Amino acid sequence: MLHYTHSTLYLESVALSDIAKRTATPVYVYSAGLIRANYRAYDESFGPLPHDVCYAVKANSSLAILSLLAKMGSGFDIVSAGELFRVLKAGGDPSRVVFSGVGKTAGEVDYALAQGIHSFNCESEAELALIDAMSVRRGVKADFALRVNPDVDAATHPYISTGLRDHKFGIDIAEAPAVYERARRFSNLTAAGVSCHIGSQLLDTDPVMEAVDKVLRLAEELRAAGLAIRHVDFGGGLGVAYKAGDETPQIREFVAALKRKVEGRDLAVMVEPGRSIVGPAGVLLTRVLYRKKTGSKEFVVVDAAMNDLLRPSLYKAHHEIIPLRQSGHGTIVADVVGPVCETGDFLARDREVANVAPGDLLAVCTAGAYGFVLASNYNSRTRPPEALVDGADWRLIRARESYDDLVHGETV
Ligand code: LLP
Repeated sequence: MLHYTHSTLYLESVALSDIAKRTATPVYVYSAGLIRANYRAYDESFGPLPHDVCYAVKANSSLAILSLLAKMGSGFDIVSAGELFRVLKAGGDPSRVVFSGVGKTAGEVDYALAQGIHSFNCESEAELALIDAMSVRRGVKADFALRVNPDVDAATHPYISTGLRDHKFGIDIAEAPAVYERARRFSNLTAAGVSCHIGSQLLDTDPVMEAVDKVLRLAEELRAAGLAIRHVDFGGGLGVAYKAGDETPQIREFVAALKRKVEGRDLAVMVEPGRSIVGPAGVLLTRVLYRKKTGSKEFVVVDAAMNDLLRPSLYKAHHEIIPLRQSGHGTIVADVVGPVCETGDFLARDREVANVAPGDLLAVCTAGAYGFVLASNYNSRTRPPEALVDGADWRLIRARESYDDLVHGETV
């Protein structure tokens, strides 16, 4: 989807420099075609097996992206009432929403019950008690799945690994049967499923398959004990290629493997992919402001910063940085840094990049997931606009913030 034609970088059939010139930089740009293709790869690979692909809203919650996915028939995985509000605004179907998260508040639970979501993925007994109490008050019934912690090592960055026993997430799988048993006392709750999510940016799917086996065994055990378990939810987590040439699991192969494990068990499957649907579909465009040398070090100072894209600073994440126009002037090794007053404000360190000059445009690749959603107003910088490319067309889906937006709601 991202390609050079006559030395000019295109996303689908749009020259990215056209967008940068019209919107100014920094700006996030997404490919609608690639988002659709990635969603379809999940949905189609399940075939006739009852399933629901619940896009993880946290990865990119812009209304136009949610609306595009809602139109494709996607369900949604949310972790806050705010995300549910966004899904509804974008035309998503509340009965296809699962509510995950370790710290749901009473207000959030009540809002979700009022909207009639599909089910809650619960992470503690206290949370079950709260959802039951709120359901009784509203006079409704609620379905739940326990998010179990299968104690497998996802082998990813420690901040985004979630499936080990000492992580804050889920309920120890060994204790789950007793928790389901005690949950029978809640008059307005129905145990409908079992869920898990072991981590994010997984490049090896073996740990997921190990978790899948454990979850399926638990589902059988609960059924044998008389609970009407109807679905299993394996969370999200499939990794994407941040470095050119990275070997990553393919969505279709991954789903085929899940399907083989679940088929014939009379269970519906749910998955909650975020990054693998939107990550590769987005770029952050930025303009070179200055070139600068201190001692032996080269710096390329650009107009995007850690407040726009936090992943390099927070996780030492690698994002490829490529020029919008191939100049043929060779490469340099440099730190690509932003204007924010922090040493940790960088987009790349000691990286071989194009030998750029002030005014040149760059694309920071694979920025569609956990990019804009993690953006902040640090240093009182306005958050960037977002654009959506579809074939040969593109449109702005979020305006750049104004200085007035920066002080919205404040008083002197
Ligand atoms: N389901 C649950 C319960 C989750 O906690 C997550 C992500 C997902 C689904 C979606 O995972 P995905 O398919 O996107 O890997 N900010 C970090 C990633 C945090 C992921 C948190 N949970 C980053 O930029 O790498």
